[in-house]
Amino acid sequence: MLVDLRSDTVTRPTPAMRRAMADAEVGDDQYGEDPTVRLLEETFADITGKEAAMLVPSGTMGNQVCLLALTRPGDAVVVGARQHVVLYEAGAGPANAGVTWLAVPDEHGRLNVGDVEAAIDAAAHHQPVPSAVALEDTHMAAGGTVWPKDRLDAVSELARRRGLRVHLDGARLWHAAVATGGTLRERAAAATTVTCCLSKGLAAPIGSLVAGPLDVMDAAHLARKRLGGAMRQAGVIAAAGLVALRDGVERLAEDHERARRLGAAVAERWPEGCLPRAGVQTNIVVFSPPDPGGLLRHLGESGVLAGTIAPGVVRLVTHADVDDAGVDAACDAIARAPGP
Ligand SMILES: Cc1ncc(COP(=O)(O)O)c(C=O)c1O
Repeated sequence: MLVDLRSDTVTRPTPAMRRAMADAEVGDDQYGEDPTVRLLEETFADITGKEAAMLVPSGTMGNQVCLLALTRPGDAVVVGARQHVVLYEAGAGPANAGVTWLAVPDEHGRLNVGDVEAAIDAAAHHQPVPSAVALEDTHMAAGGTVWPKDRLDAVSELARRRGLRVHLDGARLWHAAVATGGTLRERAAAATTVTCCLSKGLAAPIGSLVAGPLDVMDAAHLARKRLGGAMRQAGVIAAAGLVALRDGVERLAEDHERARRLGAAVAERWPEGCLPRAGVQTNIVVFSPPDPGGLLRHLGESGVLAGTIAPGVVRLVTHADVDDAGVDAACDAIARAPGP
């Protein structure tokens, strides 16, 4: 048995998704004629409480179309230094939208209101002028951490007071909602635009969704077209997305519980502490063991695939295709890890 904990994107579409894809009613989405895409977009606009929504092929494109819609070339974007949009999108934001990052430190993935305010104030001292703030919830690099709702609202309130719009990279916003017992809508309310991924944890093969106000979504449509992301009979993708929304969200609680078990195994193996202090909050475990290369080799030899996201930082991610037996095997391999 191979236990693949490299990412929650490695899942295969469920049988229900494959059936829905085969049976999907489709049309040319660039003419606005794909009923299944339209249904998915309307559903997402409704659950996020936004005026309009749009299907894009990937989370990266979701972030990019929002940057393009919210900023002009030369604008700065206040952002946490470890966010996906800064570190893991191959420089797409500066390359596509011409933005510069005003990167501030994060605390377990969350920004401090004071840091964001200082970055905005710096424009008065000949520094780049920000027009947007970008946030990430849950925060991948911090280990799937969830923004406390009051902190999210405080940063959002500051941004709006200072005339900046807010983009929320909510690739795993479903995970945050499930972990807190809250709703997507109340988290998305903090943002002008929000991106969520159907392909992470929810087990859909392709697709992310973007939502926001009508005027911004008009600009986002144009940006998607320019990036080559406007699709045709995309209902085959949207059909799997609708099944993901129906079947995938509540199930995430199982992933969170399994990730907690993996975190406990890590804490027991290295009691001196190599997990972030925030602990395991959702489906991602990041930690810095004494010999990361040796650990990856040992896990691989034990049939457990893990990855790294920064020098020395190992990541384990639970998802729909990992069950309790797989997590047992991974915990056992962690307990047997050689070395210090
Ligand atoms: C927080 C976050 N945002 C955006 C993305 C990009 O998604 P995609 O891989 O679909 O482009 C990811 C991918 O893992 C992510 O973790």
